[in-house]
Amino acid sequence: MRTQVAIIGAGPSGLLLSQILHNAGIDSVILERKSLDYVLGRIRAGVLEQGLVDMLDAAGVGARMHREGLVHDGTELCFNGTRHRIDFKELTGKTVMVYGQTEVTRDLVDARRAADAKLVYEAEDVELHDFDGDSPWVTYRKDGVEHRIDCDFIAGCDGYHGVSRASAPQSVLKTFERVYPFGWLGILSETPPVSEELIYARHERGFALCSMRSHVLSRYYVQVPLDDKVEAWSDERFWDELRRRIDQKAADTIVMGPSIEKTIAPLRSFVAEPMKFGRMFLVGDAAHIVPPTGAKGLNLAASDVHYLSEALIAHYGSGEGELIERYSENALRRIWKAERFSWWMTNLMHTFPDASGFDGRMQVAELDYVTSSKTGAAALAENYVGLPY
Ligand code: APR
Ligand code: PHB
Repeated sequence: MRTQVAIIGAGPSGLLLSQILHNAGIDSVILERKSLDYVLGRIRAGVLEQGLVDMLDAAGVGARMHREGLVHDGTELCFNGTRHRIDFKELTGKTVMVYGQTEVTRDLVDARRAADAKLVYEAEDVELHDFDGDSPWVTYRKDGVEHRIDCDFIAGCDGYHGVSRASAPQSVLKTFERVYPFGWLGILSETPPVSEELIYARHERGFALCSMRSHVLSRYYVQVPLDDKVEAWSDERFWDELRRRIDQKAADTIVMGPSIEKTIAPLRSFVAEPMKFGRMFLVGDAAHIVPPTGAKGLNLAASDVHYLSEALIAHYGSGEGELIERYSENALRRIWKAERFSWWMTNLMHTFPDASGFDGRMQVAELDYVTSSKTGAAALAENYVGLPY
């Protein structure tokens, strides 16, 4: 088979790239290791920057998002038992959209299928070849049969555990990492959210987050030690701990119910450089991971897709190659700023095992500054709603 762009991975970055390229008349094939049900079954975050909302609209997949998504003009920071609102709209003129990553992925799959896209699920043993030359190719096995795809470019959209970064020349690849000494225990419950907007809570007992997927589906998180086991957390224990970490009004009014999903996720900051190796590009989680505190994971994947799709459209359109040569540099500039914001939010809102009393006072003083100074609040808001591409 021959295509212009072979895309490894049918997560949000692979699907969005394929959709945008399709709309620009550029052919692609997507190879996904897992089944569609598996990919759609993964519970992930759901706060979309304005830039991603605009990209989904421009790609023709925004209708359901606008029907079912929730536009948030702000968020709340809770510390010392009191909530403080950060007004994104007033401070930046921008808002965010609360709409699950799973729903974004579902809308993209529907659009790809409607366009009869070449989307291969359960593609095993994907291997990348000759991307340091002019004629890269990819091989995979499907139902026991070997297949080969010749292409012009390979987009590695296969996440942190994918084959693409592992295929890059390790002598050239540089990685940067910070692993945090705690995780997030998250639940999904068919209960009305405790508040209109998200509540990020800093508490001596640890961080907590009140989020939602809709007016009837809530998502809550509490910080837990890394070695904690989900089995050790009954729903009752979860609700009790969450209510201890949020303000009294929220604790008194929260609607509790059985969890329909409960998992612990580790927190890590990770960046791989560069993101271009000849005719192979790394995109999204294949190149970077952020702790979820800044809600940047999906938005950063989209940011990479913005830079790569622009570069490929310029290449196939006018033959202009500069954007392709500068893809890694352009994408990494925005990635490092989002990594900084996510690291900063994580340090600000979580309780570290080795923290001193002084550290705790510093966190509270910084939260007090950010929530009482227009300049401080604006800096947080500007990063949260998304820095320009
Ligand atoms: N061959 C084919 N597909 C693969 C391979 C492989 N060797 N390895 C992984 N994949 C697939 C995975 O099964 C997954 O569906 O690549 C896809 C990568 O998708 P994501 O991990 O969702 O990564 P990305 O599309 O970059 O989206 C980033 O996902 O994890 C969240 O917080 C993150 O929101 C961010 C978003
Ligand atoms: C979520 O809704 O799952 C969510 C929201 C904001 C975050 C992280 C997760 O920062």
